[in-house]
Amino acid sequence: GRVGVLLGGNSAEREVSLRSGEAIFQALLANGVDAIKIDTAGSAIDKIRAANLDRAFIALHGPGGEDGRIQALLEYLAIPFTGSGVQASAIAMDKWRTKQIWRGEGLSTPEYVVVEDSTDLAASFAALGGKVMVKPSHEGSSIGMSKVETLAALGDAIERASALDTTVILERLIEGPEYTVAILGDQVLPPIRLEAANTFYDYDAKYHSNETRYLCPCGLPEQQESELKALAYAGFQSIGCKGWGRVDVMADSAGKFYMLEVNTVPGMTDHSLVPMAAKVAGLSFDQLVMQILEGSLA
Ligand code: DAL
Ligand code: MG
Repeated sequence: GRVGVLLGGNSAEREVSLRSGEAIFQALLANGVDAIKIDTAGSAIDKIRAANLDRAFIALHGPGGEDGRIQALLEYLAIPFTGSGVQASAIAMDKWRTKQIWRGEGLSTPEYVVVEDSTDLAASFAALGGKVMVKPSHEGSSIGMSKVETLAALGDAIERASALDTTVILERLIEGPEYTVAILGDQVLPPIRLEAANTFYDYDAKYHSNETRYLCPCGLPEQQESELKALAYAGFQSIGCKGWGRVDVMADSAGKFYMLEVNTVPGMTDHSLVPMAAKVAGLSFDQLVMQILEGSLA
């Protein structure tokens, strides 16, 4: 049957999605799949209907494509699609709701405060240890995020995040190394350790810098690596995610892990992490894409 690769869209991560989608499209063609690309910017509903799809491969990042809306449309049209369903996608796109669930389940995530009109910023900043990440709750690729280490800088950072989202969170900064854990079906792929040259693993480090270092295998002792994988898998499951995804995690200086978020449509560009982890697990990019596609029928 015909597979539509949904890409582009209108989110701030449009450019990343075009790159992910193109790479996925080429892999499908290489495997003899009858694939077409559909840019969901503009009249997505008409384009998807007209394409007569048997399945959709969602390569959209950010609000609109990763947050349950396209998933709901495909469900109405009875077109099977890759990755998580409507509800899990919607929750995972919201860092605040994700953290609420994790805390409720006793799964480790950094302390946070949601910024509201009544929030005492000075007190919150102090309570979070005087070093925070300011994040729009619904963005990806670190867009709109700032690391803040002085109260004086907090206002501007909140403004930058608020320009993109009605919900902004302050999250305690965890200063250890960052890890990311890819999940493929019920398999947890080898964790990757990220070492950014910038102040944090920001948009530039993710897509442009050649100075970011990636370690996979990640170098953790076996028992800690198992702990990291188990935490990430529990975090993925607790949100109700399925198919594939990637959980981002920080470690503190004592080696305790804290989950930051789940990406239900992780990047699939040449700089991306899931393909890197898959390769270490013995899967080529093409094989990875075919496994994700097969998961859409599970
Ligand atoms: N949000 C980007 C695409 C990622 O998580 O890979
Ligand atoms: Mg993300």
